[in-house]
Amino acid sequence: MTRAITLRTLARIAAALALGTGLAALAAGTPAGQEDPRDRPYPHGDWSEDCGLCHDEEKFLPARPTKDFRHGAALPLRGAHATAACSACHETLDFTKPPKPDCASCHQDAHRGEFGMDCGRCHTPRTFLDRAEMARVHRTTRFPLSGAHAAADCEGCHRPVPQGHLAYVGLATECEACHDSPAFPSAPQRPASHVEGAYPPDCSACHNTVDFSIVRFDHATTSFPLTGAHVGLACTACHADGVYDGKPTECVSCHQADYDATTDPGHSAAGFGTDCALCHTTTTFDGARFPEHDASYFPIYSGSHAGVWSACSDCHTNSANYTVFSCLGCHSQADTNPIHGGVPGYSYDSAACYACHPRGVPED
Ligand code: HEC
Ligand code: HEC
Ligand code: HEC
Ligand code: HEC
Ligand code: HEC
Ligand code: HEC
Ligand code: HEC
Ligand code: HEC
Ligand code: HEC
Ligand code: HEC
Ligand code: HEC
Ligand code: HEC
Ligand code: HEC
Repeated sequence: MTRAITLRTLARIAAALALGTGLAALAAGTPAGQEDPRDRPYPHGDWSEDCGLCHDEEKFLPARPTKDFRHGAALPLRGAHATAACSACHETLDFTKPPKPDCASCHQDAHRGEFGMDCGRCHTPRTFLDRAEMARVHRTTRFPLSGAHAAADCEGCHRPVPQGHLAYVGLATECEACHDSPAFPSAPQRPASHVEGAYPPDCSACHNTVDFSIVRFDHATTSFPLTGAHVGLACTACHADGVYDGKPTECVSCHQADYDATTDPGHSAAGFGTDCALCHTTTTFDGARFPEHDASYFPIYSGSHAGVWSACSDCHTNSANYTVFSCLGCHSQADTNPIHGGVPGYSYDSAACYACHPRGVPED
């Protein structure tokens, strides 16, 4: 058994070599009646540093590391580690044999390996129950906490499982996984109106995470983009019946009453079909435009008559019957008869004009 080298010896060497000031000071001796610290064995093994970094010149115990002491880089002493006794981690004062720095070598893994061994990803040495830190960690998951979720209790989503633990792993991130499931009682649940109306299950199609009373939905993703007067209407203007899926898109399915109420012209009597889009856009029902008129009946948006009439009634003189028409309101007899001198079969009669001029040009 080798005797430990005493400090008295060490101090002499230090003084001789002008080493650390603290140790050199020890060479000076001790007041009578006190234990002479120089008789203690040197406890730090092969490790040596300026004693004054950690020891008072007067007495060794307890050690008081100064501000200049820099702890091992792999585990700076922060949070709870800054106040822990050196011996809580160091089994021996031989600092050349420090403990391992990985958290799991000293702290029990409360998660039994579920999160892997990189504890520092979620914990700091401040406290293991750091909610603010967890919110930060959440940003690295598939489910960053936003809106109401940021202020929610962890337990609302991480439901307790046996042994008093909370479930963190394998949690679904789809809104409906929590908002349409009895397993998450604090999450507001899908209202009955949504089930009856067959709303799509994905809440995020219409809601954000702030408040369910805020509804936004990109209607352009349906076969019926909202245009003209349909923009800005309450959803209930069209969906009050709770029907979303397979709602008919034909104008008349919603505007039958408007059709039936028309008087100028009375659509049904005039023989207008119920395909409103032939003559109307969603902007307004006034100022109808019937582009197919040109190809199907008589050119009024192209050719000689483009821009020369102002109302359908310029030709359709009977608002209750659009098969009736007149050309004579514009083509006076005084102008028209002379042009037709010598044209066989000519008569000053609208049906005759139309029969010889079905496209509104002289040569047809
Ligand atoms: C990085 C800090 C640090 C430095 C530098 C340091 N020590 Fe220590 N020393 C300690 C700690 C920690 C203890 C344990 C005392 C305690 O727990 O309060 C200790 C204890 C001691 C003890 C008492 C041992 C016992 O058994 O009671 C002596 C003697 C000692 N050190 C001598 C020295 C000498 C000599 C030097 C300089 C060559 C030195 N120390 C440098 C941290 C240091
Ligand atoms: C929470 C645990 C813990 C506490 C508390 C702790 N240490 Fe350490 N210490 C370590 C670990 C881990 C290492 C190894 C770090 C490394 O490899 O960088 C270490 C390394 C050291 C080293 C070697 C540094 C180097 O650069 O080689 C010294 C010296 C040391 N500690 C002194 C102390 C003193 C003095 C105290 C008390 C004031 C203390 N330690 C408190 C865990 C601790
Ligand atoms: C060498 C051992 C050791 C290592 C390595 C270590 N710790 Fe510690 N830790 C301790 C000791 C000792 C304490 C103080 C005693 C206590 O309160 O349990 C402590 C305290 C803590 C505390 C406060 C305790 C509480 O319950 O609130 C947290 C948090 C903590 N450590 C986190 C970490 C993290 C994170 C790491 C890795 C970056 C780590 N520790 C690495 C030994 C260690
Ligand atoms: C993915 C994130 C994550 C990782 C990685 C992680 N933890 Fe945790 N840890 C948590 C959460 C979440 C809690 C519960 C915090 C709460 O309830 O506020 C927790 C709590 C703890 C607790 C306290 C348990 C209690 O009930 O008091 C300890 C101890 C702990 N973790 C140790 C570890 C150790 C050791 C590691 C590394 C092996 C580790 N953790 C890795 C997320 C993590
Ligand atoms: C609104 C629901 C919700 C709330 C509130 C919530 N979480 Fe989560 N958390 C989730 C979901 C969903 C996941 C899964 C994310 C993934 O798999 O990417 C998750 C994942 C985690 C993970 C695993 C991270 C990983 O890397 O594996 C931890 C740890 C965690 N949450 C801790 C917490 C803590 C602590 C709180 C309270 C501060 C909290 N969560 C609040 C929904 C929530
Ligand atoms: C892992 C479960 C979970 C998932 C996934 C989830 N939520 Fe939540 N959500 C909750 C819980 C629990 C609450 C209750 C928070 C509280 O207690 O204040 C909540 C609250 C809300 C609130 C606030 C309700 C209110 O009136 O206070 C809205 C809005 C919300 N979630 C929308 C969504 C949307 C949108 C999605 C999908 C992007 C979603 N949530 C995904 C669990 C979840
Ligand atoms: C297609 C769009 C749409 C989808 C998808 C949708 N909602 Fe809604 N949500 C609405 C509309 C519109 C309202 C307001 C009118 C109503 O109550 O029907 C509403 C209202 C609510 C309300 C009542 C809010 C209040 O303050 O009155 C809750 C709660 C709600 N939704 C939850 C959900 C949940 C949970 C989901 C997913 C499971 C979901 N919604 C999916 C459109 C939608
Ligand atoms: C002017 C009438 C009108 C208004 C206003 C309207 N919708 Fe619709 N909506 C329709 C029609 C028509 C369909 C059918 C389109 C389809 O099947 O593609 C429809 C379909 C839907 C669908 C089903 C889409 C699908 O993929 O099955 C949802 C969801 C919806 N609307 C939500 C809303 C919400 C939310 C609002 C209010 C912001 C709203 N709608 C306002 C007429 C309207
Ligand atoms: C799902 C029901 C629905 C469908 C389909 C629909 N609309 Fe509408 N429309 C409405 C509602 C509701 C209003 C606003 C209330 C009102 O003025 O009748 C409206 C308003 C209008 C207006 C404005 C009326 C005014 O007096 O300001 C026009 C124009 C219009 N729609 C044209 C059309 C046309 C053209 C189509 C077919 C391409 C169509 N709508 C299809 C429901 C519908
Ligand atoms: C063949 C063309 C045509 C079709 C098809 C048609 N309309 Fe019209 N509509 C008109 C004309 C022309 C007017 C008068 C426009 C003007 O004054 O500029 C009119 C005017 C209206 C007016 C306002 C005049 C009034 O009497 O109140 C409404 C409302 C209306 N239409 C609804 C409908 C609806 C609903 C449909 C489909 C179900 C429809 N229309 C189909 C040509 C048509
Ligand atoms: C310049 C004259 C002229 C103008 C202006 C005019 N039309 Fe006509 N329209 C005709 C002629 C000619 C026919 C063919 C009548 C026939 O085939 O019996 C016709 C046929 C029609 C028919 C088919 C009637 C049937 O059942 O046979 C409809 C509907 C019609 N027009 C609607 C309109 C509407 C709506 C407008 C105004 C937007 C309009 N027309 C403006 C000349 C005109
Ligand atoms: C609203 C007044 C108006 C009505 C109603 C009208 N026309 Fe015309 N028409 C004109 C005008 C103005 C011109 C001369 C256009 C030009 O050449 O600038 C014209 C030109 C013509 C021409 C000669 C075209 C050319 O290229 O020289 C023919 C043919 C004709 N109309 C036939 C008809 C027939 C057939 C009808 C009845 C179905 C009719 N018009 C009803 C105003 C009208
Ligand atoms: C029997 C056939 C016939 C009838 C009926 C007829 N037209 Fe014509 N129209 C013609 C012919 C052929 C020409 C070419 C004459 C020429 O170029 O000398 C013509 C030329 C015209 C012109 C063009 C004159 C010019 O040179 O720019 C107009 C305008 C016109 N007709 C209007 C009418 C109107 C209005 C009616 C009914 C009141 C009508 N036509 C009835 C055969 C007819």
